[in-house]
Amino acid sequence: MKLVVVGSANTDMVVKTKKMPIPGETVLGGDFCMNQGGKGANQAVCARKLGMDVGFYARLGRDIFGENALKYYKELGIDTQKIELIPTSPSGVALITVDEKGENSIVVASGANSAVLPLDVEYAKDYINEFDGLLVQFEIPLKSVTTAIEVAYQRGKFIVVNPAPAKEINDRYFKMMDVLIPNRGEARQLLGMAPDDDSKTPEELAHLLRDKGAKAVVITLGTEGSFVSSQEGDFHVDCVKVNVVDTTGAGDAYCAALTCGCLWGKTLKEACEFASLVSALKVTKMGAQSSPTMEEVEKAGL
Ligand code: RIB
Repeated sequence: MKLVVVGSANTDMVVKTKKMPIPGETVLGGDFCMNQGGKGANQAVCARKLGMDVGFYARLGRDIFGENALKYYKELGIDTQKIELIPTSPSGVALITVDEKGENSIVVASGANSAVLPLDVEYAKDYINEFDGLLVQFEIPLKSVTTAIEVAYQRGKFIVVNPAPAKEINDRYFKMMDVLIPNRGEARQLLGMAPDDDSKTPEELAHLLRDKGAKAVVITLGTEGSFVSSQEGDFHVDCVKVNVVDTTGAGDAYCAALTCGCLWGKTLKEACEFASLVSALKVTKMGAQSSPTMEEVEKAGL
């Protein structure tokens, strides 16, 4: 099975801090580290480390960050033929603070990610057609995301959508999604609600998104696990309890593992359980791309 990820690539600049600063405040944090990141890249890397054949469609700047990232993806065996280094934009960068509980806050300077253009994605239709599944997030221009979805849908591919960071999307695309994986806030925003409007339960949110046409909806709930509504029925999947070091990229690992699981023929429930374990193992280590290899997952017990 082969998976193409169309999405973002960033270099993450990370500081651990005892306390997140409030507006106007300066706090002294811990050591600085610089890691590979970006939701698209995190998902592509996670899927590859699990053993999937992965193609990554992205744009990087023609700078040291872009060159390092490209080299790293190649070393992992990701197909990078559709990654271009753009001379006119810097590589995407994310400024990340991680608190003592491992929770993060992130600001992204998109840079070259904004140069993933819809027309280029359209031109890549033959490339996308070489894969069995498509995994997208919303960290590149939305029109490029919807073009990728449309191209993959017309060719009968398995489509997984992680709407992060959330933006409202035309209703016509929901029916093209085999699995939609938002967190609670993203689910609300897809439904035109405020991200902190807690008037609906995860079950209600999932049903409303399925009513729009998504075949399966998986609402990720952090330490509360995930709520799933699909043709297999409604069910809840527990999260795997671990010692949390850094939650950055946990959602990305979850989406990648779930997509791999589905492509490898697992039921959605099995794929969600697999994804819970993979994302739990990710949060035990610093860095957005510290997701486990399949060997590590097997050792951990699935
Ligand atoms: O999902 C985590 C990712 O969000 C980070 O790696 C950062 O680059 C931002 O894209």
